Amino acid sequence: MSKLWGGRFEGATDKLVEQLGESVSFDQRLAAWDIRASIAHAGMLGECGVIAKKDAMAIVRGLRAIARDIEAGNFTWDPALEDVHTNIEAALVERIGPAGKRLHTGRSRNDQIATDVRYWLRDQVDAVTRLLHQLRSAALDLAEAHFGVILPGCTHLQYAQPVLLSHHILAYFEMFSRDVARFTELRRRVNVLPLGAAALAGTPYPVKPERVARELGFDALCANSMDAVSDRDHLVEFCAAASITMMHLSRWCEELVLWSSPAFGFIEIGDAFTTGSSIMPQKKNPDVAELVRGKTGRVYGSLTALLTLMKGLPLTYNRDLQEDKEPVFDAADTLLLCLEAFARMLPAIEVRAEAMAAATRQGFMEATDLADYLVTKGMPFREAHGVIGRLVLECGRAGKTLQDLDLATLRRFSPLFEKDALKVLTAEAVVKRRNTPGGTAPRRVRAALKNARRKLDKASG
Ligand code: ARG
Repeated sequence: MSKLWGGRFEGATDKLVEQLGESVSFDQRLAAWDIRASIAHAGMLGECGVIAKKDAMAIVRGLRAIARDIEAGNFTWDPALEDVHTNIEAALVERIGPAGKRLHTGRSRNDQIATDVRYWLRDQVDAVTRLLHQLRSAALDLAEAHFGVILPGCTHLQYAQPVLLSHHILAYFEMFSRDVARFTELRRRVNVLPLGAAALAGTPYPVKPERVARELGFDALCANSMDAVSDRDHLVEFCAAASITMMHLSRWCEELVLWSSPAFGFIEIGDAFTTGSSIMPQKKNPDVAELVRGKTGRVYGSLTALLTLMKGLPLTYNRDLQEDKEPVFDAADTLLLCLEAFARMLPAIEVRAEAMAAATRQGFMEATDLADYLVTKGMPFREAHGVIGRLVLECGRAGKTLQDLDLATLRRFSPLFEKDALKVLTAEAVVKRRNTPGGTAPRRVRAALKNARRKLDKASG
């Protein structure tokens, strides 16, 4: 098959150059989007009188037949033809004859590939948003189902203050809500059509790319032809947003790994989302959580690859840009797979509320509140902090929890303690007092759950 750009060449291309330059091995996945965009372009060329209507119709029919062949796996991709565009165009000419050669009028592969990738990416963004929605819904189900369960909230991974499990889960709900906002926002910048830019400067043909935009559901045309063919911001943004979502998933995965370990014993992950060991029969490993945590790194890798790819490129199209695809394909595939697997795993989590309650009794987590108690009795907080610190030290030495203490012991540390001090010393009381906006008091968390459910219903309605 001769090359579509072969006119000014006499010598053959070196084999290694073909190997280096071919992209069809990976960009063939854009075929469906490439063909739909070409169908819209051909229709527009016919309408505008740039090519004959009957040629446009033959092109559209030919492209539809090629799309069916590709779908059915009856299409042979030839790496010597470089990329998805040239493979499809060559097949079109072979199928319908000379009319096929008129498709590439008023268009360049530069605005064509820019169009295909934006068109494909828009669908990926929509798929990500749908899965984030499923994930938020599963998270909220879990938070609602376990309302009232208390566990240690940590700072530095040390038990800090007791919190509601629902509150803990709602923290992730917030993260994923911000992710939805990020993807929704970047979709607007993705959904802009480069066609009409042609190679870099525009085209002298009386084309109407706005018709193509309308047909394919693009919101606008790129404002500058040079930017249109060289801009890859939307790919960088997608990978950045994907990286942040993966980071959120990965943090939760880390907690699930810890919580499901015998050392914590806070949860058990169902059989469908754990695996065994080939040598240790007792093992039940949280592989899904570990793999999602592990795959986060490759999405960061895609972001780094794209930023590095772009940093030294002069305007406009440079062949380097062909290297933009594999990273963004991998980032999208990885994110979609991880979101779905994680969302499906959440309902398989069994909560061990007794283990959480037992842990809550450890760690002297009422210490802050006991200090606050002394403050209400007139002691400056710094001084109260010291008093309770000494109390905790003694409890630790005696192997006691704060809840084991009686009033007489408390009074040895400060005469300001009275009978009501003992009431401070329950996890429920500690939680209930955190009644600031966004705090863990049951009243606040109940309202937060309601609010989250309302937001979710609105997004799906
Ligand atoms: N396969 C190319 C890419 O992915 C398509 C654009 C080729 N343009 C060119 N002038 N060689 O970037």
